[in-house]
Amino acid sequence: MLLDVRDLSKSYGDTQVFSALSFTIAAGETVAVVGPSGCGKSTLLNCLGGLDRPTGGSVQLDGRDLTTLNDDELAALRASAIGFVFQDHHLLPQLSALENVLLPTLALAKKLDEAQVRAAARELLAKVGLTGKEDRRPAQLSGGERQRVALARALINKPKLILADEPTGALDVANATAVADVLLALNRDTGTALVAVTHSPALAARMSRQIDFAQGVSA
Ligand SMILES: Nc1ncnc2c1ncn2[C@@H]1O[C@H](COP(=O)(O)OP(=O)(O)O)[C@@H](O)[C@H]1O
Ligand SMILES: [Mg+2]
Repeated sequence: MLLDVRDLSKSYGDTQVFSALSFTIAAGETVAVVGPSGCGKSTLLNCLGGLDRPTGGSVQLDGRDLTTLNDDELAALRASAIGFVFQDHHLLPQLSALENVLLPTLALAKKLDEAQVRAAARELLAKVGLTGKEDRRPAQLSGGERQRVALARALINKPKLILADEPTGALDVANATAVADVLLALNRDTGTALVAVTHSPALAARMSRQIDFAQGVSA
């Protein structure tokens, strides 16, 4: 199992967001996390990715329990094993598309060969359909193109898992479909598992499984 979630719970003070969540996700799988606003989807995703700490239970990624790691160990694991995509692209405005894609490589413990990693970034930008736009800054790209840069950035460190929080939520229908196409093509090509929070029934239907908060979350 790539991800093994057991009895996971999260509270903020007296407010319980979720409790006793247990599910597993296999390598390469695609899972949609669905449910009404405020039900805890982002909180769950953040706990799966080590961006937030659950109040109970465990999250094993590739056999390592995230809840036992200290902040430095967690940061190192995040950098090497997990790619994040948010609703907002979160690109740095002063950097080119290529430089934005390269950013996560700076967080890796291992120093990479500069020429090789730049070639890999160009290849990823080609895969998301942005050949010729590598040197543009985010302001010189459309919303859909910016989100495709964010997808390339999420994959540059060859993660085993992509966690995407409403990756198409800020896009119009045509761009949302294009970004979903790229996301699922990347999953097929690279074998990277994908867990995506989405309000889009069209995207959820294209994933292999759904975790539905409205159904009491059993998966
Ligand atoms: N840092 C926080 N402190 C306190 N409450 C929070 C915090 N983050 C989220 N919450 C609460 O947790 C619940 C779930 O939020 P969230 O995971 O963002 O929901 P969703 O992504 O499904 O819309 C909400 O009631 C929200 O107000
Ligand atoms: Mg959310």
